[in-house]
Amino acid sequence: TSRSMVNFYYPPHNLGLPKPKHQLNAVLLGQAPASEEDDLVFPSPEFSSQALVPSFNQYMEMYKRSVEDPAGFWSDIAAQFYWKCRWDPSVYSGNLDVRKGNVNIKWFEGGITNICYNCLDRNIESGNGDKIAIYWEGNEPGADASLTYTQLLQRVCQLANYLKDIGVKKGDAVLIYLPMLMELPIAMLACARIGAIHSVVFAGFSAESVAQRINDCKPKVLITCNAVMRGSKLIHLKQIVDSALTESSQNGFSLGACLTYENKPAMKREATEWQVGRDVWWQDVVPKYPTTSEVEWVDAEDPLFLLYTSGSTGKPKGVLHTTGGYMIYSATTFKYAFDYKAEDVYWCTADCGWITGHSYVTYGPMLNGATVVVYEGAPNYPDPGRSWAIVDKYKVTLLYTAPTLVRSLMREGNEHVNRYSRKSLRVLGSVGEPINPSAWRWFYNVIGDSRCPISDTWWQTETGGFMIAPLPGAWPQKPGSATFPFFGVQPVIVDDKGNELEGECSGYLCIKGSWPGAFRTLFGDHERYETAYFKPFPGYYFSGDGCSRDKDGYYWLTGRVDDVINVSGHRIGTAEVESALVSHSHCTEAAVVGVEHEVKGQGIYAFVTLAEGVPYSEELRKSLILAVRKQIGAFAAPDKIHWAPGLPKTRSGKIMRRILRKIASRQLDELGDTSSLADPNVVDQLIALADH
Ligand code: WT7
Repeated sequence: TSRSMVNFYYPPHNLGLPKPKHQLNAVLLGQAPASEEDDLVFPSPEFSSQALVPSFNQYMEMYKRSVEDPAGFWSDIAAQFYWKCRWDPSVYSGNLDVRKGNVNIKWFEGGITNICYNCLDRNIESGNGDKIAIYWEGNEPGADASLTYTQLLQRVCQLANYLKDIGVKKGDAVLIYLPMLMELPIAMLACARIGAIHSVVFAGFSAESVAQRINDCKPKVLITCNAVMRGSKLIHLKQIVDSALTESSQNGFSLGACLTYENKPAMKREATEWQVGRDVWWQDVVPKYPTTSEVEWVDAEDPLFLLYTSGSTGKPKGVLHTTGGYMIYSATTFKYAFDYKAEDVYWCTADCGWITGHSYVTYGPMLNGATVVVYEGAPNYPDPGRSWAIVDKYKVTLLYTAPTLVRSLMREGNEHVNRYSRKSLRVLGSVGEPINPSAWRWFYNVIGDSRCPISDTWWQTETGGFMIAPLPGAWPQKPGSATFPFFGVQPVIVDDKGNELEGECSGYLCIKGSWPGAFRTLFGDHERYETAYFKPFPGYYFSGDGCSRDKDGYYWLTGRVDDVINVSGHRIGTAEVESALVSHSHCTEAAVVGVEHEVKGQGIYAFVTLAEGVPYSEELRKSLILAVRKQIGAFAAPDKIHWAPGLPKTRSGKIMRRILRKIASRQLDELGDTSSLADPNVVDQLIALADH
């Protein structure tokens, strides 16, 4: 039978534990849909027999070696890549324990390499020059293009030559503000080729956010395009860049050049505002350069990129990744978590403006010589079937996407899915937030026809690559669990006081030891790096996530435990939204919390206190939301504004967010003890105004 009761226990966190006997419902991959009663989805023998890691035992063997002999484990993998000069024998060195001095992480120190060379030249030299590197699908159905590895290298070299020619040198920052055109991965790779540090800013961020990032990393050059169509909306990217640059120049910043790609289908160059001397059309200069270029060989620990992300307080943090460790880690995690084979066609729906697009659109897949689909548009444009049309058009085998997209398409109904074959699909992936079991089942049963394992990958901008994720074919999955740690990763769950918890437990997720993809610092603020990540639980890296481990050793992520909210997989600091709200002249104080949202995972709920005498109105509500759109970007717009003449504070003036979260989610019977508030009446007042 396809459904069976099994005895089951996998304890990778503690190899010495005895094997308890308990039973679980299970279903076999490809045999029957997963129902609500099924805790486990077993890989089929057919899938496992072709998988890179065909069994749990083989995983355990590899995992054991990866933590007991990291030098041997990672050296064997790193040796498959090109190094101009081998690293010093140690592979890893550094200190993670703040009690013993500064945190400094180093992998493959002394090694000399180049990640662009390893993505492109190395794959071409091994005979894959004619293989498709990028299938590009435009916003409008029918608009498409492709590049082979050889053609991609030529385009990368032309841009690299141009950048060098205008004076960009190793270690200089280049800010990239582009939508999902082929030019985006081309720009990233060109920077890497010449040793420049790219900082991609998601093209949904506002001018003020771009300016903030410019002021922080002081790029030599900015690369953008004039405009883009996203769905049926035209977005003037160059205008956003122009106002960001105007703002930065008031801070005394001056830019070498603003290289602008003319995205003709969206907008002709004649309609684009232009600053002569500063602005340069990509098409006028880049194609004139030679299609070959020298590689800048860099140290394994030389910076590769900066990517800004939100924290619980203050301004965005510039997460810095270096070259060697990140290269080995993004390549290896991609290969194993998607069970990658040379014939695969891989599509990741994330934008290169986020870490997912860095590690799993550009670097991880290309280091493996994979064929990658890059899609410019919205997944539901012109209709909710577009994603599956793309899967069928390119015969996508590996699809990596986010729970929010799964949930939004789930709402549109199965008919949009069933119109398409989707037969090519082999492995599905999920990232960005915990995937709720019902979305998991729909993804598994409907999109994958109960045939494709789902890799639910838990990781972060800071970790560079997957940390906890299923290896398809190696073990049974549980809907909603990211399952077990990747090679070399030692998760620990700690309590409030930092004690490591054993066996079945829940608490704060930390990582013991280091892994090659770990970020090395926050740009220009090493102290904040140590304070935010290494001081909360000394001796460990603290993820900011809550987590539990069940009796079988499976890990279940439960969401952020700090003041970070996760909206459609986008990480937003409540402090940033609050600071945008109080920048509005009528708002004196704001407190932002996350609330459950059916599609977005979390929604943004903002309590606002207005200036003396200012009445709350619909018009004011709109202008408060506009302030957030302007300061951060449309994706951070609050879902709800709650007028708060007063906020619940302790006598020392600290806002009690716990109470605000309960009010926001209307769990009014769970407000808890409010007697320690400076003014307990504000709670009743807030409740009375909830639907104002
Ligand atoms: C936060 C990191 C890593 C790429 C996308 C987001 C949440 C991410 C999962 C998952 C549960 C997840 C965590 C994490 N998260 N993936 N599979 N299961 N939670 O990167 O912007 O750095 O956000 O996203 O809360 O801390 P990011």
